[in-house]
Amino acid sequence: MNESLTVQGAPAPEVWDLLPAEQQPQWGAHPDLPGVRRALRTAPALTTAEDVRTLRRQLAEVALGRARVLQTGDCAEDIHECGATHTAAKARLLAELADRVALRTGHPVVRIGRMGGQFAKPRSRPTETAGGVDLPVFRGHLVNSPEPNAPARRHDPNRMLQAYEASAAVLRALDGARTDAYGPWASHEALVMDYESPQMRRDPETGDPYLASTHFPWIGERTRQPGLAHVEFLAALANPVGCKIGSSATPEQVVRLCRVLDPGRLPGRLTLILRMGAGTPASAVAPVVEAVQGAGHPVVWLSDPLHGNTVQTATGVKTRRLSDAVAEALTFRKVLEEQGLHPGGLHLETAAADVTECLGGPVTGEHALSERYESLCDPRLNPAQARELIDAVFS
Ligand code: PEP
Ligand code: CO
Repeated sequence: MNESLTVQGAPAPEVWDLLPAEQQPQWGAHPDLPGVRRALRTAPALTTAEDVRTLRRQLAEVALGRARVLQTGDCAEDIHECGATHTAAKARLLAELADRVALRTGHPVVRIGRMGGQFAKPRSRPTETAGGVDLPVFRGHLVNSPEPNAPARRHDPNRMLQAYEASAAVLRALDGARTDAYGPWASHEALVMDYESPQMRRDPETGDPYLASTHFPWIGERTRQPGLAHVEFLAALANPVGCKIGSSATPEQVVRLCRVLDPGRLPGRLTLILRMGAGTPASAVAPVVEAVQGAGHPVVWLSDPLHGNTVQTATGVKTRRLSDAVAEALTFRKVLEEQGLHPGGLHLETAAADVTECLGGPVTGEHALSERYESLCDPRLNPAQARELIDAVFS
């Protein structure tokens, strides 16, 4: 990290601060932005370099076929649900589900929450119509607020400090719940560059830069372009990093990403999270896996069997079918095992409460979706649905 000072006294911008970035908030020329960035730059690190190194070693065990991963949590965390009670309930579900995977696979399971920073969402459209008015979409509590009115939807950089404080509370609770090297660890999509870039710190032991906003940052399907800000940023970090891979990615593109994100071909460094959709046949998934394997990258392979399977009901409710998730995760497992590789585990959107957002298991039909639909963004599996998925995939 270049720490030389500019004439204004601020650190010189890093390359990724100067590169174009997709899916960024439109703060306008908000006068508070420089001060917020400065505050984040000097704020206490939310994670230690030592913990980040420990998780990286655990993920190397997964890459080598000796352990598994379970990554669960909200699509969009709610900044108002970051207290001890909510965090404990989420960590408890994660632990219970991880035990279930362990029992069925005979492997220890690394527990990672989509928690403690999962406050920013990429969106396919910048606006939506609510009550006949065009409004900017909700982009996560780090950017704006979900209420359907113009002031709530305005992008406010001060929200980054609220997200930081909420994350700090969650990270403290996760640290307190950590009984061994298997977790619980924190993860989120590294999306808003104004939030993430100032939270780079140095590992006091190795001198390497690491991202102190989380243990395990990942980049999404919409921000994984080599040469743009997000990929170059993740490439510079010592953390273990993840990247979502959807059905539009070609084997060549994925290998190129591996070259940038895992130049040293190090087990545990890179996790590829496949979210191909249940309609993508094994014959289309296999070439991606084969290409990465052929290029010598010992990645961790995870299946996210939800993001490629979002559908809308006739009345416009966003949902997912458990049967689609099971089908996609089974295809994932089959492709990996046929190539002699290790299906590392699952990346899921879950709720600790008995929500009715996805179809299947106890949610018997579309009529039941309205009973308890609470997600701020994508539909999550409830605990019973998550158990059913795990039982079907690891049988
Ligand atoms: C997500 O994980 O919530 C997400 C937006 O995923 P993807 O980038 O795979 O669409
Ligand atoms: Co989501």
